[in-house]
Amino acid sequence: MSFFEITGRRRLSGSLAVHGAKNSVLPILAACILAPGECVIHNCPHLSDVSATLDILRGLGCAVHRDGNTVTVDASVVQRSAVPEQLMREMRSSVIFLGATLARMGEAQLSYPGGCELGPRPINLHLDALRKLGAQIREEDGVLYCCAPDGLHGCEVHLPFPSVGATENTMLAACGGSGTTTIVGAAREPEIEDLQMFLNALGAQVQGAGSNVITVQGAARLRPAEHTVMGDRIVAATYLSAAGAAGGEVELTGVCPEHLSTVLDVLEEAGCRLWYAKDMIHLCSDGRLQGVRAIRTAPYPGFPTDAQSVVMAALACGRGRTVFEENIFQSRYRHVSELARMGADIRLTGRTAVVQGADLHGADVCSTDLRGGAALVVAALAAEGVSRVGELHHIDRGYDHLELALSKLGAEIYRKNG
Ligand code: EPZ
Repeated sequence: MSFFEITGRRRLSGSLAVHGAKNSVLPILAACILAPGECVIHNCPHLSDVSATLDILRGLGCAVHRDGNTVTVDASVVQRSAVPEQLMREMRSSVIFLGATLARMGEAQLSYPGGCELGPRPINLHLDALRKLGAQIREEDGVLYCCAPDGLHGCEVHLPFPSVGATENTMLAACGGSGTTTIVGAAREPEIEDLQMFLNALGAQVQGAGSNVITVQGAARLRPAEHTVMGDRIVAATYLSAAGAAGGEVELTGVCPEHLSTVLDVLEEAGCRLWYAKDMIHLCSDGRLQGVRAIRTAPYPGFPTDAQSVVMAALACGRGRTVFEENIFQSRYRHVSELARMGADIRLTGRTAVVQGADLHGADVCSTDLRGGAALVVAALAAEGVSRVGELHHIDRGYDHLELALSKLGAEIYRKNG
C-alpha cells in the first residue's frame, strides 16, 4: 500500500494554482448527459472520484476523452440508464446521476448508495423531490428502479434541509421536466452556482443558485457547451491550514476568497496575516496558531464541514483551546484518534471536540476518509520528526497529487510504496 512519508517543521513558501473543485465537476459531468452532443469541461482535476464519474458516463453510452485538465463528453447517444453497482459503491455521490438520467432517458437505475466514513448517508430528500416531479421510484434488493412514465413536470419542491446533493439532483431532473420548478430551501454552496452556470450554457433557464430559492424552466432542448470549473475552496482551505500550521508565506490563485471566507476569518483570528484579491489568497504565518472562538459547521455560507478536519489539525499543532461542533455529519471526527497518535490533545463529546494546542510528533497514521486524511497531512507538516500517512486512496479521491503541490511549497513529502 502506498503512503506519504513527511518530515515536519519545514516552512512552506511559494505560490500554487488551486485545481478545479471536485464538488462542482461531479454534478457538471453528470449534467453533460442532458445535452446530445459534445461538452468540453476545462479545469477538471485528476481525482479518483472524477475517474469513477467518467467511467459511469462511458457505461451509460457516452464517448469520453481526457486531454490534460480538459475532458470532452459526447452524449449524442445515451443507451443505458443503469449506474453499475460497483461504481455506486466506489462513489456514493454517483447518486447525482439519478436526476440527469431520469431527465434524459425517462428512467434510471442505481444501487442504494451505502453509508460512508462520515456515517449514514440517506438520500430521502433526493427521492422525495424526484417523486414530487413525477418520478416513480421503487427499491428492490438495494436497487432503486426509477421511471417517469408520464414525464417529469415542474412544481414547487421544499427541501426541509439544504442538502447539496438533493438540490443538484432536483435541478438536473427539473431541466428535463415540463414547466417551472421552484426549489425552496435550496443549498447555497458556490458549487451549485457553478452548476447553474453550466446548465444555462446548455440552454437551460436556471436562476437563484446561491440563494435558498432556485427556479428551473424545464423542457428546453439542450445543446452541448464548454465550461471551466471553479477552483476548489476546500483544497484551498487545506493548503492554507498547512501553511498556517507549519509557518511560512504562500499565495494561492484560481480560487475565490469569498467562497471560504469563514475559514479565512478563523485563520486570521488564529494569528495568520491574510490579504486577497478576486481569485487570489496570500497568507503569512509564523506557525503555532492560537486558539479561536468556537467553530460550528453549518450549511453554506456557514463554516464548511469539509474544512473542519484540516483546520482542527492546524489548531491542534498550535497553542490555546478551540471548541468545534460538527453539525452536518454524524461521524466526522474519525481523524481525531489518528491525530492523537501524533500527540494531539482533542477531547470528544458527541458532536463537540475540544482541541488543546500541543507540540505534535511524527507517527505512523492511517487516513480514515478524504478530509480526515488531509488533516493528518496538515498535522504531519507541523509535527517534529517523520510521519507516514497511509490509506492514500481516501486522499486521492479529492486531491490532485497533493504531495506534488505541497512539495512545490517546500514540504518534505514523498509518496512511497510499502
Ligand atoms: C456534499 O455532499 C459534498 N459532496 C460533501 O463533500 C459535503 O460535505 C456536503 O455536501 C455538505 O456540504 C459532494 O458535493 C460530492 P448533503 P452531500 O446532502 O450532497 C443529510 C467532501 O469531503 N441528508 O448536503 O451528500 C446527510 O446525511 C464531501 O468533498 C439527509 O438526511 O451532502 C448529511 O447529514 C463529503 N437526506 C446532511 O444532510 C438526504 O437525502 C448534508 O448532506 C440527503 C442528505
